[in-house]
Amino acid sequence: MSSVHELAHAKINLYLHVTGRRDDGYHLLDSLAVFAGAADELRLSRGAGLGGHVDLHIEGTFSPGLRDDSADNLIVRAGALLREHLGAEAARHLPDVRIVLRKELPVASGIGGGSADAAAALRLLLRAWNLSIPRDALMALATRLGADVPVCLDQLSARMEGIGEELSPAPTLPPCGMILVNCGQSVSTPQVFRTRAPVFTPRASLPARWDTLADMVRDLSEQTNDLQDAACAICPEIATVLATLRNAPGCRLARMSGSGATCYALFDSPAAAQAAGATISQPDWWVWAGDLCRSGARLATAADSLHA
Ligand code: C5P
Repeated sequence: MSSVHELAHAKINLYLHVTGRRDDGYHLLDSLAVFAGAADELRLSRGAGLGGHVDLHIEGTFSPGLRDDSADNLIVRAGALLREHLGAEAARHLPDVRIVLRKELPVASGIGGGSADAAAALRLLLRAWNLSIPRDALMALATRLGADVPVCLDQLSARMEGIGEELSPAPTLPPCGMILVNCGQSVSTPQVFRTRAPVFTPRASLPARWDTLADMVRDLSEQTNDLQDAACAICPEIATVLATLRNAPGCRLARMSGSGATCYALFDSPAAAQAAGATISQPDWWVWAGDLCRSGARLATAADSLHA
């Protein structure tokens, strides 16, 4: 088998409401997730033996600090979960694979990089092992890897509810541009959930479509990221990033994504986002500018990355 590859795109939460809490400690959410052109890349080739082992190698801008022999890596765990799903007898006949991850998204940064990698690994392994798993079963496996993994399987904008695994169509999005900025500090998701004020926000009321960016920004301005204040308390530089984005020329809305620390800003067009992104020059910050993929649209490539 020659090598096959997949892009694992950044997931951005345009808003995130914490609507409740389950008995097991997981939080109920209402969030609008969209995908940007920024991405990690996974390349899979066939190994020498049988048994379905995943040999992971990590390279790229954000590879330092990540261990490629870690059984905790979500890519390795995706392989283990598929083998478990198939059963030991069937797994014995699966070819071993080698996956090279080119890590270009900041780690533990609120844009779902690890979840996107896990989802991309599932897509690659299904092809490599010639497996067909019903969608409901695949979504259940994805949820076991992480609450953000199901939405990353399709990489299409979606409303996320439940703990993130209940997906429904997002409003149709208008053309616009986006900047992503990460200040270089990773933030622990469980710590952010623990730190937030113990209040719940109702689910948002959303239209079926937004024809213009002004319409979308008007509605999004009424929503919040309920994890933003807690993340800023843990990592005060997030507030500096948000202030910088709000001051960037042409910024229509700036907010943190997920549990942070990455923040996004919306602009009239990808060109406007790139022009504004070029004015942000803090040396330790990761800055990306480009397209916000529209609902159902083919995703842009990672090639429109501004600078890392
Ligand atoms: O599912 P995932 O591994 O991404 O979640 C990491 C941690 O974030 C969970 O262990 C939990 O503490 C917290 N979390 C939560 N509610 C969610 C998603 C995550 O409390 N809906």
